[in-house]
Amino acid sequence: MRLKGKSALITGAARGIGKAFAARYVAEGAEVTIADINLPAAQAAAAEIGAHAVHLDVTDQVSIDACVAEVAAARGIDILINNAAIFTMAPITEITRADYDRTFAINVTGSLFMMQAVAKVMIQQGRGGRIINMASQAGRRGEALVGVYCATKAAIISLTQSAGLNLIEHGINVNAIAPGVVDGEHWDGVDAYFAKYENRPLGEKKRLVGDAVPFGRMGTAEDLTGMAVFLASPDAEYIVAQTYNVDGGNWMS
Ligand SMILES: NC(=O)c1ccc[n+]([C@@H]2O[C@H](COP(=O)([O-])OP(=O)(O)OC[C@H]3O[C@@H](n4cnc5c(N)ncnc54)[C@H](O)[C@@H]3O)[C@@H](O)[C@H]2O)c1
Repeated sequence: MRLKGKSALITGAARGIGKAFAARYVAEGAEVTIADINLPAAQAAAAEIGAHAVHLDVTDQVSIDACVAEVAAARGIDILINNAAIFTMAPITEITRADYDRTFAINVTGSLFMMQAVAKVMIQQGRGGRIINMASQAGRRGEALVGVYCATKAAIISLTQSAGLNLIEHGINVNAIAPGVVDGEHWDGVDAYFAKYENRPLGEKKRLVGDAVPFGRMGTAEDLTGMAVFLASPDAEYIVAQTYNVDGGNWMS
C-alpha cells in the first residue's frame, strides 16, 4: 500500500494504460479519480476498480477547471497523471491542419493546462505533489509517417523538463514515462494506420513491432504500472524533470 491516503487524478483512464494505472493505484491504497471524455466508459471503469469518475475534455479550459475544482473539493489532489492522448498518422504531404490542431490540443495543450490547474491546487494545499506526464518512445525521435504524434510527445518531454524545474520549489515533482509499444485499443488503431499507409494486412505491423522489442514482446498496460507507482511514491522524492523509458529495451537515453 505505497499510496495510502493519496488522491490521484488520472486523465484518459477509461481504458488502456490509464485504466491500468487507476487499478494499480487503487490497489496501492490511493483514492483515484478517472477523468475522461468518455464518461460512460469512465463510470464503468471506476465501478469495476473502485474509483471515482468525472467527465473531462482536456481541450476545453472550462472542463479542465470544473474537473479539477470538483476533485480538489471532494478529496484534494496529490497526484496527477496526464495520460489522455490521441494518435494520428500521415505522410508529411498529407497532414491536415485540422488533425494537427486536434492532436496538439489534446496531447500537448491539454497536458500543459491540466498541469497548471492541478499545480495551483497543490500549491494551495501546501503539501507538494506528483505530476506524471505520458510521453512515448515516439518523442525520442521522428518517424516518417508519425510526424505530428512524435512532435506532441517530444513537446511532452520538454514541458516535463520545464515544469519540473519550475514546480519543484513547491515540492511538486514533475516527471514522465515514455512507453514503447503497448498492446491495446490504441495500438489496434496504430496497426490500422500502418495497414493503410504501408499496404499491409491488419495485425502484421503489430506482430513485427512486438518481435523487434529486445524484451521479446509488446508491452502490456500492466508493465507500466510499477513506474507510475514509483514516481508517485516517497522513493522518488529526489527525481525531478526526468522522462523514463519503460519499453522493453526499445530505446536507450
Ligand atoms: N499504447 C501505446 O503503445 C503507447 C505508447 C507510448 C505512449 N502511449 C501513451 O500512453 C497514454 C495512454 O495510451 P493508451 O494506449 O492507453 O491510449 P487509449 O487510446 O487506449 O486511451 C486514451 C484515453 O484518452 C481519452 N481521451 C481522448 N481524448 C480525450 C480528451 N479530449 N479529454 C479527455 N480524455 C480523452 C480516451 O477516451 C481514452 O480513454 C497516451 O498518452 C499515449 O500517447 C501509448
